[in-house]
Amino acid sequence: SQNERESLYIALDYAKKFYQEQLLQSDEGQSIGLSYFQERGFNRQTIQQFELGYALESWDAFTKNALQQKFRIEVLEKAGLSIRRDLDSRPDARVFDRFRARVIFPIHNVSGKVIAFGARILKADKNQPKYLNSPETEVYHKSNVLYGIYQAKNAIRNEDVAYLVEGYTDVISLHQSGITNVVASSGTALTVEQIRLIGRFSQNITVLYDGDAAGIKASLRGLDLILEEGLNVKLCTFPEGEDPDSYVRKIGGEAFRQYIKTQAVDFIRFKAEVLLQDAGNDPFRKAGVIKEMVESISKIPDAITRQVFFQQTARLMDLPEETLVAEANKRVRERI
Ligand code: GTP
Ligand code: MN
Ligand code: MN
Ligand code: MN
Ligand code: MN
Repeated sequence: SQNERESLYIALDYAKKFYQEQLLQSDEGQSIGLSYFQERGFNRQTIQQFELGYALESWDAFTKNALQQKFRIEVLEKAGLSIRRDLDSRPDARVFDRFRARVIFPIHNVSGKVIAFGARILKADKNQPKYLNSPETEVYHKSNVLYGIYQAKNAIRNEDVAYLVEGYTDVISLHQSGITNVVASSGTALTVEQIRLIGRFSQNITVLYDGDAAGIKASLRGLDLILEEGLNVKLCTFPEGEDPDSYVRKIGGEAFRQYIKTQAVDFIRFKAEVLLQDAGNDPFRKAGVIKEMVESISKIPDAITRQVFFQQTARLMDLPEETLVAEANKRVRERI
């Protein structure tokens, strides 16, 4: 209900402030959390703008404090902040904090309310996930959310393009470097809802996924979905091992902008670069790549745009356009 959601927002906002205070004011937060962010190159203004925080190395520091402030345990649980081990047992059943000994990235909705948290461990540990996120709650539907949308939306509208990255720290580093039209899918497969959210601000998306096999695979998956939603997509790859965060720190904001300008390609060129490399001189595999291109083109709802890409692909692959159109029509017929 509306009331229940409102109580979750209040608890989440309280938690955000609690984690911020721990980061900036506690000894542990300063010596561990703040120095972690500083080592990553985040300045005070950035930490403030993204409302970053720190969760103490304690089982229940947050939950205890919130209960003292008269938050109800049911609300803390439903907000994804606290965990109770035995639901049906004694009232003093063990209650503990979901986020412990991690730096905290609040996740905001489009109007700036905190709806969830991402929490990162400080050093690599194979027994723990690198990032721990809030569970799905009444106010947090992971598939509808883009990290950074609140901070990025005006820039996306003004620049008429959204840069789509994988991670929290990619968004934050680019912002600090003056590139503010950036949102992250946060490691999950891109969804239709996320694309539509971007579509409220611009029809243009440039995908900037990590320069590794996983990033390229995710880009290929995402691009068809973007085309299907009728948005324009470009893609930009990074050198192996680099992500937008590491790369912008290496070359700086101005050079990064320039890099995207010169390296971003449309989806046909992207598929050609990525898939043709593997195909080599094998004519069967080359044909497979061309079919992949046709598959993507036939996702585009607008007929004129489709036509333009058929022409381009025909030129690029040195094939008659009619062959491509026939293949697309065949696919459409088979789908029906
Ligand atoms: P840093 O290592 O802090 O630079 O993070 P990153 O964003 O570069 O991480 P990575 O490229 O590995 O993953 C991209 C995004 O996927 C992250 O920002 C998270 O949102 C998400 N992610 C990564 N690892 C995990 C994990 O272990 N669990 C969950 N739930 N999400 C993860
Ligand atoms: Mn959902
Ligand atoms: Mn990665
Ligand atoms: Mn990354
Ligand atoms: Mn990274």
